[in-house]
Amino acid sequence: MKRIGILTGGGDAPGLNAVIRAAVKTAINEYGCDVFGIKNSYDGFLEEDGIVPLGMEEVRGILPRGGTILGSANRGNPYARKVIRDGKEVTIDVSDEIVKGMKKLNLDALLVLGGDGTLHIAHELAEKGVPIIGIPKTIDNDIGGTEVTFGFDTALNIATEALDRLHTTAESHHRAMVLELMGRDAGFIALQAGVSGGADVILIPEIPFKFESIMKKIQERHAKGRKFSILAVSEGAKLEGGEQVFSRKGDEIYVPRLGGVGQMVGEYIEKQGIESRVTVLGHIQRGGTPTSFDRSLATRLGAAAVRLAARDGFDRMVAFQCGTITDISLAESIMIPKRVKLDDDAVVTARNIGISFGD
Ligand code: F6P
Repeated sequence: MKRIGILTGGGDAPGLNAVIRAAVKTAINEYGCDVFGIKNSYDGFLEEDGIVPLGMEEVRGILPRGGTILGSANRGNPYARKVIRDGKEVTIDVSDEIVKGMKKLNLDALLVLGGDGTLHIAHELAEKGVPIIGIPKTIDNDIGGTEVTFGFDTALNIATEALDRLHTTAESHHRAMVLELMGRDAGFIALQAGVSGGADVILIPEIPFKFESIMKKIQERHAKGRKFSILAVSEGAKLEGGEQVFSRKGDEIYVPRLGGVGQMVGEYIEKQGIESRVTVLGHIQRGGTPTSFDRSLATRLGAAAVRLAARDGFDRMVAFQCGTITDISLAESIMIPKRVKLDDDAVVTARNIGISFGD
């Protein structure tokens, strides 16, 4: 193994830079490799100046830094790239150009840091013979085969702090405070932050909710003299028999953008006579410095990915299972995305301590 490439795709997550740093250091220290960063996800293979050498100097000081020094893109699917041809926008498949780009760079391995979308593409490219290794990344923690992804712990801490802050003002003003959190298809952030932050109601995509059940919980609290309530709501939560709420429809370029379910819930509560306010935490959950847990997990995954590359463990993904780093096939990880299980201990515990899921 002489030359390794690294790219970061999809929405960023705190810890990406820690992975890059660990991979570069391991590749240089242990294997004497040259490492190259591919900028802006797979796009770097197609762009002028899209490839940058990564040495010790380039990764110095990046461990605590959020974001990614390589840039990312969450609409950089090489199988469906939008380009303008004869003044019209068309979708073309440039996956063969990515393969060519890799060959031109003479890469022995490509480490791909991404969520489900980026890892899907990685698996398809691996089937074309590209020596790819996946590294799971997402604050949503929804990737199959790994118990936890880096970025998740940081997002949880931010969400929990937000809930703590909402608590004091909720109590002063006797209001229902709704906090809309990230979590497209999986409600891990709202569930775990809701439990840690003492929420009264948690709404997640896996458990459709009913307005009446939410109101029942709030009114029960009122009857006991607790005249404020805290609601932790995943952006992907939906009404029983209803649809997810989007702030922007998808088009040829952008995927649909979730947002608005918190507002919908807050408005309903207010119509029932209980003053309510809505906070959307948004990308605050994704930015900034990673927690100690995320830095350590990211570092272990970065080093493990290079060791896996040295063993020719391609078309596989490094993963965290039972406290240790292991690896699984990319196909396995993308086949069954991770979701909150209804009999999950965290769900059962939340119910035990009186939290309502609005069901
Ligand atoms: O996938 C992670 C995620 O944070 C989702 O929870 C959220 O819907 C999405 O990214 C937002 O992405 P963008 O940065 O494109 O708005």
